Amino acid sequence: MPATVIVGAQWGDEGKGKIVDLLAEHSDFVCRYNGGPNAGHTIVAGGETYKVRHIPSGILRGKECVIGAGCVVDPEVLVEELDELAARGVPVDRLHLSANAHVIMPWHVAIDQGGERRLGKLKIGTTKRGIGPTYADKAFRLGIRVQDLLDPKILRQKLEVALAEKNVWLERVYGAAPVELEELAARYERLAQRLRPFITDTSLLVDHALREGKSVLLEGAHATLLDLDHGTYPFVTSSSTLAGGAAPGIGIGPTRIDEVIGVAKAYVTRVGEGPFPTEIEGPDQERLRELGGEFGTVTGRERRCGWLDLVALRYAVRLNGITSLALTKLDVLSAFAELPVCVRYRLRDGSETDEFPAYQSDFHHCEPIYETLPGWAETLDEVAEVSELPDAAARYIEFVEGELGVEISLIGTGRERERVLAHHGPAALAG
Ligand code: GDP
Ligand code: IMO
Ligand code: MG
Repeated sequence: MPATVIVGAQWGDEGKGKIVDLLAEHSDFVCRYNGGPNAGHTIVAGGETYKVRHIPSGILRGKECVIGAGCVVDPEVLVEELDELAARGVPVDRLHLSANAHVIMPWHVAIDQGGERRLGKLKIGTTKRGIGPTYADKAFRLGIRVQDLLDPKILRQKLEVALAEKNVWLERVYGAAPVELEELAARYERLAQRLRPFITDTSLLVDHALREGKSVLLEGAHATLLDLDHGTYPFVTSSSTLAGGAAPGIGIGPTRIDEVIGVAKAYVTRVGEGPFPTEIEGPDQERLRELGGEFGTVTGRERRCGWLDLVALRYAVRLNGITSLALTKLDVLSAFAELPVCVRYRLRDGSETDEFPAYQSDFHHCEPIYETLPGWAETLDEVAEVSELPDAAARYIEFVEGELGVEISLIGTGRERERVLAHHGPAALAG
């Protein structure tokens, strides 16, 4: 049985939550391998909308869910999320939290916010959830891990050591209020009690599941172009978002992964700052945003909208080893008479390339070269099979497959769980 990675192929919000939820029906485990509450994955099922930030999107299907060691966890947000799901009748007792995941502390959030303020015009446009500072402390080997929450004495010791330094930063560098030890220790001891039943060795748990022939989904958060190493640095998040990051993020070997499904929108969106070659100028930007409901799940910010960028998507196929693509939100394009698709970039020296530029300044200054495909006027509301797609929509799909040399296995035609067409079905869907 396969271990399948689901990875965002653009700048995030591609509809990973919906695709994971769909594939979870035929899976036993769903495991998040990176990121924290900067993620926002939406699932629309039975007329209800669920938004998960920490918890894997498989929770609604009642599957075993894992938050892996590569994640960073804000205990307050996680407890809130657990309570909200439980209040809505979703059982959460099958959640497993890695003892090795790092904990987002109040000073990480304050430093993220203060850092963005200080950067001013040069800001990254982070979600201000403390992600960068938490991963920085992890790399600096100063982090507090989930397992540290289990022993009040160790926790207090670690908080004391951290606060001695962090309060200097908060007060002197960011002009923020210092954090008080006693209040903090009491609050985190309470949160620790809530999280204790979920904390375990999740690497071992997933290894056992794979050995028993269980089917495992590895759910990526954020996306390829937000990857710390290969994304559009510095306008990236601070974790390894790529499919390859799933192995260390969970604690399994890379040879255990059988399939990599890239999730891409039929157009592109980006939240936050940074270069975006196919960003639309003019009224179509607003139109696409309204039609696609392109407002951030976590921050409510307007998502910047652009036409499909095949140069960037080709890069995503390369970086992740994508075996098939899920192309979401095809229905949103129904309103456009013509659909520009970026096939190459023109660089500053006038040369053209269909490969993603390795140098940031080339990417900043490149211009998209479009091929314009005909649109279709019909809505996709009644389309139940790929063969029923309007001709122009079918040609759009074929064009993308031809340009990338990768099959599109799933096509999104609406927000609801059921609104997906299976094209060349991914193995993970076969169960
Ligand atoms: P994620 O972060 O990749 O899980 O994506 P988000 O949930 O942040 O954003 C995707 C948005 O698009 C959500 O509001 C989904 O409900 C919605 N969505 C997903 N697939 C489709 C689709 O095929 N058509 C339409 N119209 N909406 C979709
Ligand atoms: P999902 O999983 C869209 C972006 C932020 C910002 C940059 C760094 O829902 O697709 P961070 O808070 O991570 O330090 O912010 O990364 N970003 C996302 N954009 N979807 C996401 O997650 C994102 N996670 C981070 O907007 O530009
Ligand atoms: Mg999202």
